[in-house]
Amino acid sequence: LLKLRPVEPGDLPTLFEYSSDPESNRLVGFVPRTRAEFDKRWETVMPDSRVIKRAVVVGGELAGDLCLFDREGRRELGYWFGRRFWGKGLATEAVRLFLAEISERPIHAVIAKHNAGSRRVAEKCGFELVGETVDVNKAGERIELFVFELR
Ligand SMILES: CC(C)(COP(=O)(O)OP(=O)(O)OC[C@H]1O[C@@H](n2cnc3c(N)ncnc32)[C@H](O)[C@@H]1OP(=O)(O)O)[C@@H](O)C(=O)NCCC(=O)NCCS
Repeated sequence: LLKLRPVEPGDLPTLFEYSSDPESNRLVGFVPRTRAEFDKRWETVMPDSRVIKRAVVVGGELAGDLCLFDREGRRELGYWFGRRFWGKGLATEAVRLFLAEISERPIHAVIAKHNAGSRRVAEKCGFELVGETVDVNKAGERIELFVFELR
């Protein structure tokens, strides 16, 4: 039922829609990108082989995406799903499949302290809490984060 495949240009309108959701942005501590900012970001990311990205397809529908990217000298995992797909175990299943595809370790996940669902996903997939950090987002808000590691 759940499949991972490379991200295609035709996925971007839906991924933009998911990335604009206010509750998702609250969980992540982000300020949503404008469509122009989003497109510019994907223009960089699409041809970058250091960024491993996958679309998550559930019953033929694009449910969200996963990626592995470089940040501050680490390989970091990110994931983002459309609201109507939440609460069904899909993120956990998708992250497990993605991690089975990728042999690099360690992998880190940096998760806002108030994002309990994401923390749970990471822990169910074998990540351990190794530290804390703070970020300041585009709105100037201070976001407290946990650093998780998969060894
Ligand atoms: C975080 C996110 C990926 C979770 O997706 P999902 O498909 O609902 O996740 P799953 O169903 O696989 O698992 C969620 C787990 O968190 C738990 N959970 C969800 N919300 C919770 C909350 N507020 N408090 C405690 N636990 C919570 C669920 O009960 C479940 O655990 P369980 O299997 O033990 O019951 C999804 O909400 C999302 O895309 N959010 C926006 C982007 C984002 O936050 N990305 C992560 C950035 S680090």
